[in-house]
Amino acid sequence: MLARLWSAALAGVEGQPVQVEVDLRPGLPAFDVVGLPGTAVLESRNRVRAALRNSGFEMPLGRVTINLAPAGLRKEGPLFDLPMAAGILVAMGVGSPERARGHGFLGELGLDGTLRPVSGVLAAAEALKGHVQAVVVPEANGPEAALAGLPALAFRHLKEVATFLRGGPAPPPARALASPSQPLGPALERVAGQEGAKRALEVAAAGGHALVMIGPPGVGKTLLASRLGELLPDLAPEEAYEVTKIHSIAGLLPPHGGLIRRPPVRAVHPSVGAAALLGGGVPPRPGEVTLAHRGVLFLDELPEFPAQVLDGLRQPLETGWIEVSRARYHVRFPARFLLVAAGNPCPCGQWGFGECRCSDGQLARYRRRLSGPIKDRVDLWVPVEPPSGKALFQEPAGETERVLARIRAARERQAQRYGPGGLNATAAVDLHQLAAQPAVRRLVERAMEARLISARGAVRLLRVARTLADLDGSDTLQEEHAAEALQYRRPPW
Ligand SMILES: Nc1ncnc2c1ncn2[C@@H]1O[C@H](COP(=O)(O)OP(=O)(O)OP(=O)(O)O)[C@@H](O)[C@H]1O
Ligand SMILES: [Mg+2]
Repeated sequence: MLARLWSAALAGVEGQPVQVEVDLRPGLPAFDVVGLPGTAVLESRNRVRAALRNSGFEMPLGRVTINLAPAGLRKEGPLFDLPMAAGILVAMGVGSPERARGHGFLGELGLDGTLRPVSGVLAAAEALKGHVQAVVVPEANGPEAALAGLPALAFRHLKEVATFLRGGPAPPPARALASPSQPLGPALERVAGQEGAKRALEVAAAGGHALVMIGPPGVGKTLLASRLGELLPDLAPEEAYEVTKIHSIAGLLPPHGGLIRRPPVRAVHPSVGAAALLGGGVPPRPGEVTLAHRGVLFLDELPEFPAQVLDGLRQPLETGWIEVSRARYHVRFPARFLLVAAGNPCPCGQWGFGECRCSDGQLARYRRRLSGPIKDRVDLWVPVEPPSGKALFQEPAGETERVLARIRAARERQAQRYGPGGLNATAAVDLHQLAAQPAVRRLVERAMEARLISARGAVRLLRVARTLADLDGSDTLQEEHAAEALQYRRPPW
């Protein structure tokens, strides 16, 4: 007898519908899975066999063949346990083929028949829209699956799924959940002084411009950078959905987790490998740049990162995407993040700020870590001096609230002008429009002639200036905005 039902496979950060066909035939006992199954899918056979037995069903005698179609698509992960077990039940005559066909099945099985949560449920459920009337998922995946817009039926045990297949009542659909929204904490008040750096954080948060803070040890760079995430407003609904999908595929959504509403913040250590930062492996998994999509990527001790790892950031910083290619795969992961980094100006930490004791060779080696193309993609270079003793004991009140209000207003202006996502989301900008004021144009031309900035630098400078004007509540980009933006475009070496 033949049974057919729907499940889904994951490719990159998207799901693809997969038809699971189960054929039972008399003959020598065998259990085959065909249709490009990965290792975890082949291991499913052992889990499915044990789970069926421990749910009160004997594996059918004879030949079991499971086909996962389309055959050209690679199937990875344990989420095919449940559709395989359900398909076998239906092929054995337990349950109605119609009921099985109208539902999508996703989930891992424990040997005792319990349903275990799997990653990537949101993308998988989304792929099944239009194919099924509801998805059947493990209980802990219920709130996530419900986000896809299909009714999500959440079960705890294979026995319950068998009863449902036999025509038992469906449980009430799982309710979609969302994580808490923006808290209003004293993000900036905890950092004494550092007005210049705080202003740069405000500009970065308002316009999504890459920011690097350079200064001697112990002046608050790490402290400042780690506050940036709190300055970003909640994600727009489409962004939240996209971010949740990515984090689910990466296995970072907690059980019973729902929509991620806050921009993610990913802090990365200099020992990170290229694959962990940029994505990679077989099958390719999203890297930190993708996990930071629509949020913050924080690289502390920037000059300590290997140069070739940093160079991998060139593509995503320019395009908002990263392409990961392996022999058998080619995927494009979203990677539009706000880069914030901190570092010392030299190995001893004092160059340009105090008395530097480094040799010329040490300085040269240290500086080579940051390639020209990376430096060119940073919009805000901020020197951070030690705060005064007096500043350390002052308590500036209401600072964060004022900054957040300006950021919110600036983002609203940008969204009105450029659509949701603001300036950063639009690939091309109209240079003539940005530099409509002759004084602005002259300033940019002079900076280019003096070799202070590249052509890319000019475009990026104008974008920063646009953000500064928006923070200022000004519709016209004035010379003063361009001048401030130019000040920020100064790498320390
Ligand atoms: N401006 C500041 N306001 C309040 N506390 C500060 C400030 N600067 C430094 N501190 C205190 O010093 C600690 C170290 O600061 P932080 O780690 O930010 O220094 P850093 O500039 O990143 O130094 P390094 O270059 O060594 O990494 C902080 O945890 C905080 O307790
Ligand atoms: Mg630090």
